[in-house]
Amino acid sequence: MNILIMGPPGAGKGTQAEVLVKELNITHISTGDMFRVAIQEGTEMGMKAKEYMDKGALVPDEVVIGLVKDRLAKPDCAGGFLLDGFPRTLKQAKALDATLREMGIRLDGVINIEVPREKLIARVTGRRVCRSCGASYHVLFNRPEVEGKCNSCGGELYQRSDDNEEAAGYRLDVYEAQTQPLVDYYATQGLLRDINGDQDINKVLKDILASLIK
Ligand code: AP5
Ligand code: ZN
Repeated sequence: MNILIMGPPGAGKGTQAEVLVKELNITHISTGDMFRVAIQEGTEMGMKAKEYMDKGALVPDEVVIGLVKDRLAKPDCAGGFLLDGFPRTLKQAKALDATLREMGIRLDGVINIEVPREKLIARVTGRRVCRSCGASYHVLFNRPEVEGKCNSCGGELYQRSDDNEEAAGYRLDVYEAQTQPLVDYYATQGLLRDINGDQDINKVLKDILASLIK
């Protein structure tokens, strides 16, 4: 199964993706995670991406499109993939269509997680992420069993440098202006599955799985 997960910052894409890829036995491709690894490794691309990410702006299309195209060509994507955080602009969506056409595959569904804007800032600013495996927690809504440690791998939890109020507000504006139009793009293709993300994490997962077998 080849699917996309979209939704504004803090909607729960990463949280759901972590479980979904295990349930569906497919490969998780998160462009945000790929950039964060590149930053940690200190690559040139990572340093360039960091300038955009810290402000909450999008990394230029050319950079992201090339990165995803290379990633999709890797053997672990042949059994299916979940794209998380890509595409984010119409240009990226059209480039993805072209890449998938070249590969002779197509999307099976687009999960669109919806959460009211006023709840998103609190989700983003209270988030803590595992340094080792990338799992997301929240200081109030999704606390780890042991303070500051990841439940799955025991890794140290940290706060992302773009998870402050200023960058989070800007990311939401960027989402509304540049990514929201993709909802119509995929609805027209009959691929969109709208999911209420303002519910318990397990209920959101249940709704997503049910929408995919419809
Ligand atoms: P990216 O890493 O993709 O960040 P984002 O889209 O801003 O999304 P988030 O990771 O903030 O949110 P999420 O939906 O994954 O939420 P989560 O599950 O963690 O991108 C970061 C940056 O990289 C971009 O700003 C851009 O600069 C660059 N970038 C990446 N892709 C790009 C692209 N394609 N083009 C250009 N630039 C790109 O959940 C959030 C919090 O809420 C957590 O604390 C979680 O525990 C909690 N939570 C989750 N679900 C629930 C629930 N149901 N109830 C209560 N709390 C919940
Ligand atoms: Zn971990």
